[in-house]
Amino acid sequence: MFKIVTHNQNKYKEMKKIIGNLEWMNIEYPEIQADTLEDVIDFALSYLSNKIEGNFIIDDSGLFIESLNDFPGVYSSYVYRTIGNEGMLKLMEGIENRRAYFKTVIGLRYQGMNYKLVGICHGYIANEERGKNGFGYDPIFIPENYRKTFSEMPIEEKNRISHRGKAMIKLRALLHRFGEIQ
Ligand code: IMP
Repeated sequence: MFKIVTHNQNKYKEMKKIIGNLEWMNIEYPEIQADTLEDVIDFALSYLSNKIEGNFIIDDSGLFIESLNDFPGVYSSYVYRTIGNEGMLKLMEGIENRRAYFKTVIGLRYQGMNYKLVGICHGYIANEERGKNGFGYDPIFIPENYRKTFSEMPIEEKNRISHRGKAMIKLRALLHRFGEIQ
C-alpha cells in the first residue's frame, strides 16, 4: 500500500485509477517558492521524510502558457486561488497564440531514496470555461488533438493523455520493477 500525500482529493482520485492500492493522506505541507516543480518536490520529499513513516508519493503540477513566458508555472496554485480561471481568460484576451502545457512531477520516497517521475501534456487555453469534471484549470485547457477541455472528459479519458496520467504510468512501471505491484 502506498500513501499519496496531498490536500487535493481530485489528484488522489485520478491517481488511484492508475495505481489501485493507494491510500490518501490528507495533509498539507510547505511548498517552497522555487524556480522549478522539481525543486519544490525535492524540498517536500526531504521535509516529509522526517514526518511520515515508510514509503509515500507526492505530486506537484503547473500550467505553463507559451505567450505568457510560461506563467503561471510554479505559481499555478497561487494564481488559481487569486484570479482563477476567469482571470486567466482575461489575461489571454486578444492573444492568438494559446499554446500551453501542463506538467506534473511526482515525487516518490521509497526505502529511504527519492525518485521523480515527470509527465507533460501539450494543448491550448480555451476561449471560455467549459465542462463540469476535474478541478483547477481543467475547464480552460484543451489537450492537443482534442476539441474538448479536460473538464468535459471522464477521469479515465483525462488520465490516458494527461500530465499526471503519464507520470503515473512511469511510477507504475518503477513500482513494478521494485516488485511492489503486479
Ligand atoms: P499543485 O500541484 O497542487 O501545486 O497545483 C497547482 C495548481 O494547478 C492548482 O491550482 C491546481 O488546482 C492546478 N492543477 C494541478 N493539477 C491540475 C490538473 O490536472 N488540472 C487542472 N489544474 C490542475
